[in-house]
Amino acid sequence: MNTEYGSKITRVAVIGTGFVGSSYAFAMINQNVADEMVLIDLNKSKAEGDAMDLNHGLPFGSPMRVWAGDYSDCADADIVVITAGANQKPGETRLDLIEKNAKIFESIVGDVMDSGFNGIFIVATNPVDILSYATWKFSGLPMERVIGSGTILDSARFRFLLSDYLNLDVRNIHAYILGEHGDTELPVWSQARVGLEPLSRYIEKYKPEASQADLDSIFENVRDAAYDIIEKKGATHYAIALGMIRLTKAVLRNENSILTVSTLLEGEYGEEDLYIGVPAVVNETGIQQIVEIDLNEEEAKAFRHSAKTIKDAMKPIHE
Ligand code: LAC
Repeated sequence: MNTEYGSKITRVAVIGTGFVGSSYAFAMINQNVADEMVLIDLNKSKAEGDAMDLNHGLPFGSPMRVWAGDYSDCADADIVVITAGANQKPGETRLDLIEKNAKIFESIVGDVMDSGFNGIFIVATNPVDILSYATWKFSGLPMERVIGSGTILDSARFRFLLSDYLNLDVRNIHAYILGEHGDTELPVWSQARVGLEPLSRYIEKYKPEASQADLDSIFENVRDAAYDIIEKKGATHYAIALGMIRLTKAVLRNENSILTVSTLLEGEYGEEDLYIGVPAVVNETGIQQIVEIDLNEEEAKAFRHSAKTIKDAMKPIHE
């Protein structure tokens, strides 16, 4: 949004102030990401309470305008973040949430677009690949302006667990999880790097005691992390919120960052007409470019299986 003096006031609208939305809002203030943030929730009182509680913390941080608003406030937003919807209960898969959340999304996206919104959607609600596709369809925006959090969190979990296993700074671990943000996601072991070395080579030289069982267990802990955390504390929200902050910064600061987000494939990776987690360059235009990394035969097969799982799960909302 531009003022009459030409300076750019950035605004982010957060739809849903539950666990994820309020964690994201807190991180937005903590990291001073935007000039304005509007909180929108069906439970207006919750959004108002969160806005009050966050505003009272501003004297300890940087200036920011925070308020509880409504969909009309999306008109001048650069980004609309959607976290609203039912979340997984213990034992529930993300795909189990489709019916409930697809209906909610049709109404949310319609209300946002009715405001005259012309920015970028960031979607976090699960199943995020399918709901990102739904947001793209319902909004009519070009694909590059609808971004799902995808496997941004899964790749972070993967890097963290590898850094812990190798006792190395996580910033030197470069590894991706691709595919569904869910049970069919896949680790791209063949392209994982430690510093400048392939992971396999690093382990060969510096951790010869490493076993395939260890590596398999690392991936299983990544894939099943949400179930484990939900069993322990009822929900996950801090890490996904921080992943969304990373995405928000990449857009607002035009960072051209490569992140494993959920985006529309139109032939890339041999797939089309679905949103799925792949590496992409993210900047102020949204998805600037999809990055096609080389997959070995096993990884390509797993990716095809993940894509099929998403497409099969989408059929009910397609009809
Ligand atoms: C998780 C949620 C965000 O993986 O799906 O924690």
